[in-house]
Amino acid sequence: MTMPARERSSDPVILVYEPRPHQARAYADRLRSAGLTRIRVASDEREAAEHLPEAEVLFGWRVPVRLLSSAGRLTWIQSMGAGVDDLCAARHLIPPGVVVTRVVGPFGVPIAEYVFAFLLHHFKGVERMRRAQRDGRWDPFVPGTLRGRRLGVAGLGAIGQAVVRLGRAFHMPVRGLSRSGERADIVDEHFGPDDWEDFAAGLDVLVLTLPLTDETRHIVGDRVLSRLRPGAAVVNVGRGALIREADLIHALESGHLGAAILDVFETEPLPTGHPFWRMSGVYVTPHLSGPSEVDDVTAVFLRNLRAWCDGRPLEGVVDLERQY
Ligand code: GLV
Repeated sequence: MTMPARERSSDPVILVYEPRPHQARAYADRLRSAGLTRIRVASDEREAAEHLPEAEVLFGWRVPVRLLSSAGRLTWIQSMGAGVDDLCAARHLIPPGVVVTRVVGPFGVPIAEYVFAFLLHHFKGVERMRRAQRDGRWDPFVPGTLRGRRLGVAGLGAIGQAVVRLGRAFHMPVRGLSRSGERADIVDEHFGPDDWEDFAAGLDVLVLTLPLTDETRHIVGDRVLSRLRPGAAVVNVGRGALIREADLIHALESGHLGAAILDVFETEPLPTGHPFWRMSGVYVTPHLSGPSEVDDVTAVFLRNLRAWCDGRPLEGVVDLERQY
């Protein structure tokens, strides 16, 4: 049962969970320096199992969800990241009344920078320029440009919006796809979740910023990929399982797709020997495009903690049934 706001302590028992112990300590130190004293820290299941029963607030990343049913005093889970698919998939284990929040603001700019770093690298032929320099060859080819290439952004939350803004700065016509249609006015053409094929038709660049839900799992497969323009690039900064990997590999091997820029994978770390490691059109990065920085994420948590103590609405509240 959620405690009425008036009974909430301003110094609740907070469990910080982060699988990397140095990061867990860094978050805990920031909370202590903000005056909080009842901090517990865990980085593995054993430590989590020890502290979860007394935790009132869980501030974590990649929390061992199967243990959540033991968290009898819990009222609020603040994720350290934007994506909460792991928590939503285990929603039946989250005690009733527990509020889940995610971090919404800070990832847009770094992720949009990541997307355009690779798009520019790919379309302008930076690799060819570097190769020519290495070989001592004067190779004055005509570099490609982003101007005029059609950009499709699936997901128009804070991250998708930041990608749209940079796309516009590079003079790209922009399409958007989102469930709510709330930010339809920021794109030239807006599509809903039943319109994937029309959305994808003729795109030069497809960027996926969607949350992973039952509806979006494997949403990008042959049906969508075959509608993209020949030579198109797919960028995935959402979750690996948005894409049917075998179909992506086929679209690249057949020469239909020019590039896949992938920061997220169905299995992470990407297994040794996975074809993506060696495919020339694939850019593999280890889920780093939107890093959770301790200061930024703690600032969101502390803002929410003040609201939680005062019984005011929290920011980034997740609808567990909608799954984001
Ligand atoms: C990272 O993937 C996040 O969800 O914040």
